[in-house]
Amino acid sequence: MRVLVVGGGGREHAIVRALARSGHAPELFCTPGNAGIAADAGIVAADDGVVPAARRLGADLVVVGPEVPLVAGLVDELEEAGIAAFGPSAAAARLEGSKLYAKEAMREAGVPTAGHELAASREQALAHLSGCSYPVVLKADGLAAGKGVIIAADRDEASAAVEAFFTEQRFGATQVLIEEFLEGEELSMLAVCDGTNVVPLAPAQDYKRIFDGDRGPNTGGMGSYSPVAGVDAAMVARTVAEVHEPIVGLMAERGTPFRGVLYAGLMLTAAGPKVLEFNCRFGDPETQAVLPRLRSDLLDLCLASREPGGLAGVETEFTPDWAVTLVLASRGYPESSSKGDVIEGVEAAAATGAEITHAGTAHEDGKLVTAGGRVLNVTALGPDAAAARERAYDAAELITFGGRQIRTDIAARAVERTTQEA
Ligand code: AMP
Ligand code: GLY
Repeated sequence: MRVLVVGGGGREHAIVRALARSGHAPELFCTPGNAGIAADAGIVAADDGVVPAARRLGADLVVVGPEVPLVAGLVDELEEAGIAAFGPSAAAARLEGSKLYAKEAMREAGVPTAGHELAASREQALAHLSGCSYPVVLKADGLAAGKGVIIAADRDEASAAVEAFFTEQRFGATQVLIEEFLEGEELSMLAVCDGTNVVPLAPAQDYKRIFDGDRGPNTGGMGSYSPVAGVDAAMVARTVAEVHEPIVGLMAERGTPFRGVLYAGLMLTAAGPKVLEFNCRFGDPETQAVLPRLRSDLLDLCLASREPGGLAGVETEFTPDWAVTLVLASRGYPESSSKGDVIEGVEAAAATGAEITHAGTAHEDGKLVTAGGRVLNVTALGPDAAAARERAYDAAELITFGGRQIRTDIAARAVERTTQEA
């Protein structure tokens, strides 16, 4: 079986590695891929589009990683061309593509989420801000690579955010959601769906801010770990029942069934889990921590998600080991990124047993160099959070490049919790 993975980040590298463990022993290809993925999959050019590339390849399945092509309808195009594809249709991907669409769907399905107001202009936004309580959250309506969210502590910060959104057009949005600030701990609950059934993956947490202590601007994600202390099978079942299933049910009723990965970004509030956002795909960097723990066959899950009722009664199995993923980012990230810095030590890091997945890397004159904001992910497994964390940091220490940024507190919370428990 030939499988083509679309995307070129750490998430896609982790997907390629998980597919390689499938009992189907698939032949793996990736477009556009990156310098690391090239070692695990054939790199395919798709200058004329993914559909012709998949056809030339004779792909039996295309797995679409990132949200942009999903929201743009790549899965619809592939399926219309008779090529099997894993991921939601454009209509279903609106759950991620429009925060407003997601809010309305949640209201209709009775899914708990933060209260919000919609502002379609600078004046409307400023008017809402005069009556709201602080802190308050402002979100650009469209896709913004995890960066279109501003948490404003007070009115001044909120007004500055409004100028950034409407006057500077920093995220290209014409509508902004002004949302109630939720307090609690975040949880990423990903689930594979077939339009009707919901099969949860292991719970994970990610770190969105660039600096230790959750300071600085939001990024695409600086680290993650799985499982999550305190999130037991009952909590997983609760989020599936209160969040995923009602939404999947609503999307089916609307004639736009959700197939693929439905990622609920949740806040565990005192009043229970509430949705911060939906994503229509595997999370990055959660996937780099979750998939190395998956014992079930990822390819089987992808194939089953395309069949109506294909996931009925399916359960996933994960190793009890913990996984910790660290992101190594380049100088200037997230505002900018630097390219061409020579990377050393990847082989030594991999030799420790850690899994190194590539995000923004390239080969230049025979050397591995940085080629993006998030450069590499280092994932290590261990029998407990402390062991996984230590192994991940030991391996990451071996990797060097100019301007390297790494958070030093990834999974520290998990270690604290689990040692208290023990
Ligand atoms: P989002 O892209 O909507 O997940 O937002 C990015 C990050 O902003 C989330 O992971 C949270 O850390 C934070 N955030 C978003 N919405 C809220 C909210 N209503 N209350 C508190 N924090 C939020
Ligand atoms: N980890 C956040 C995201 O994938 O959007």
